[in-house]
This record gives sequence, structure tokens and C-alpha cells, in this order.
Amino acid sequence: MENLLDVKNLKTYFNLSAGIAKAVDDISFSIKRGDSFGLVGESGCGKSVTALSIMRLIQPPGEIAGGEIVFNGKDILRSSDEEIRNIRGDKISMIFQEPMTSLNPVFTVGDQITEAMRVHLDISKKEAYDRAVDMLRLVGIPAAKRRINDYPNQLSGGMRQRVMIAIALSCSPSLLIADEPTTALDVTIEAQILELINDLKQKLGMAVLLITHDLGIVAENTDNVAVMYAGKIVEYSTVRKVLSTPRHPYTTGLLQSLPSISDAEHDEKKKGRLNAIAGVVPHLLNLPGGCLFKTRCPLKKKICDDPPPFKEVEAGHYARCWMV
Ligand SMILES: Nc1ncnc2c1ncn2[C@@H]1O[C@H](COP(=O)(O)OP(=O)(O)OP(=O)(O)O)[C@@H](O)[C@H]1O
Ligand SMILES: [Mg+2]
Repeated sequence: MENLLDVKNLKTYFNLSAGIAKAVDDISFSIKRGDSFGLVGESGCGKSVTALSIMRLIQPPGEIAGGEIVFNGKDILRSSDEEIRNIRGDKISMIFQEPMTSLNPVFTVGDQITEAMRVHLDISKKEAYDRAVDMLRLVGIPAAKRRINDYPNQLSGGMRQRVMIAIALSCSPSLLIADEPTTALDVTIEAQILELINDLKQKLGMAVLLITHDLGIVAENTDNVAVMYAGKIVEYSTVRKVLSTPRHPYTTGLLQSLPSISDAEHDEKKKGRLNAIAGVVPHLLNLPGGCLFKTRCPLKKKICDDPPPFKEVEAGHYARCWMV
């Protein structure tokens, strides 16, 4: 079956006065219809820039410097602005990283959901309103008929994120991009929102691109995963393979920094303090030559001064490391 989304050799660069920041540097991955795909990595590795590139929302000084993004058989990068507006919000929806800033405080929840529908669907105001109430119910907002007249500041963080999801889903997209949809939420609400996204994915048959810095979230919510480091994909396979037999030392480090179940039960606060990978991500304008991870890698050898190939270490499992 044809893939829903193929990202091929995507390069998104920022032309800064101090130099060119290669935020996304030659990445490729595919998502099948109805599948969920995790994009994971530390802050600054290029996850959001990848998502914004797919939505074609990169603004100067950023530009897409190369590659193809094929959605539903069509190259998004070569589509007209009008075609892109139709794809955006209709076929592909995105939940942005900052829930506070993505809802407009001066409009009611209902206004914002119906607005999205009326732009993309040919329906009356009344139909849009009824559908908006249904959407709010679908995302688990109680008393939807009353809540639809609320302003964003009348809702809790979790409820606001549910509204964001309702807006994203209002036009039945075939791909939902969720950029760290739960970072701003506490652990219990996080679990509820992820469950909601999974549930809706099953019900509506949409594919999900889930962006997170947490491999634990990927483990429970996605089929395939790409691990990014400094603008490149360093490991790529099914979640099962990557978690059971990680092949890149960066992935191994990320896994070791996850709290085990028993740790989490004993002390939630331990989260994030366990065996965090030593050192910091290199600056994009000052990358080391050769392997980008070598400044932090416990396995570093002389050969790592040359850029490692992206090797297929077993069928369908790739890693960018000389040591595999
Ligand atoms: N508008 C911009 N101008 C210059 N550089 C940018 C811009 N937007 C992003 N970058 C750079 O691109 C890199 C990748 O940023 P991106 O937002 O994709 O990271 P991320 O993986 O989403 O991180 P986080 O987990 O913190 O959200 C960063 O180094 C960032 O500094
Ligand atoms: Mg981001």
C-alpha cells in the first residue's frame, strides 16, 4: 500500500547572520495510513521544524533547502499556496506545542471550532455548531453544550488541550501532527490526553505523527519511531525493535534516562534525573566534524571523526553509527 506521508531527504535551514543553521539535515521517514509514528529527541534537535516543514509553515530566515514531502501521492513542497491551504487543517492537522498561545483568548471555544470547519467544509453555521458540540463530546468535554460558549481562560490546561484536539479533528484529517501535546500538562492529564488521541486514531482511522522528547511516551503510543539528534535521524525502526535492541548509543542513553516503572511508583520526582546523558547537544552553528554525537558518546573511537553511514543493521532497522 502507498504511504500516506513520505518525507524524503528533507533539509530545512535557517540562514542566520552568523551562518547557516541546519535544523533539519537530510531526514527521511514514512508514515502509513492509520499508523502512528514517533519523532523523538532532546530539545533543539529539529522536531518542531520537521513538523512545520510538513505543514509548509517555515518562515524566513528559515527555508526548505531540499527534499520532498509527498502526502497522498502529492509533493507538498511543489503545491500551490491554495492547495496547501486546503491540505492544512483539512487533510493534515497539527496540535502545536504551546496550548496557551494557540487558542485565541477573545473568541469562545465554539467560535474557534466552527471557524476551522467553515473554512474547510461547505456547511452552514448551524451544522458547524452542532458538529462542534459533537466534537467536544468526542474529546471528552463534559456539558459540551454549555462549554462551547466558554472562553479559553475559563478552561483548565487539560480541557484547553482537548479543545485543541477537537479543532484539529474537526475536519477529519488523515494525518494528525501532535507536537509535544502533553508537555504542559501533569502526568495524570498527560495519560488521559494520549489515551484520547489513541482512541480517536482507532475510531477515525487517522495517522498520527507524535512528537516528544520522551521515549516512554513513544513506547506506549506509536508503531514506528525515528530518533533525532542535531538535525539528523540517528535511529529508525519499529518501536519494538528500537526499545528492545537499541543500536545507536544516543538511543541507549535516552532509554537509560527513563525511570523504570518501579522508580516511577516510588518517587515520581526522580523522573528525568536518572542517568541523563552527559554533556549537551552541540550548537547547530558549531557542529563537530564526523559523527555529531561523538562529543557525548561513551563508545567514541578515531573513526567517529568521519561521518557514519546510515546503516541497515537488520531488516527495517537503521542506525547512524560506526560501532554497529
Ligand atoms: N525561527 C528560527 N530561527 C532560527 N533558528 C531556529 C528557528 N526555529 C528553530 N530554530 C533552530 O532550529 C533548531 C531546531 O528547533 P526545533 O524547534 O525544531 O527543536 P525541537 O526539537 O522542537 O525542540 P523542543 O523539544 O525544545 O521543542 C534549534 O536549534 C533552533 O534554534
Ligand atoms: Mg519543538
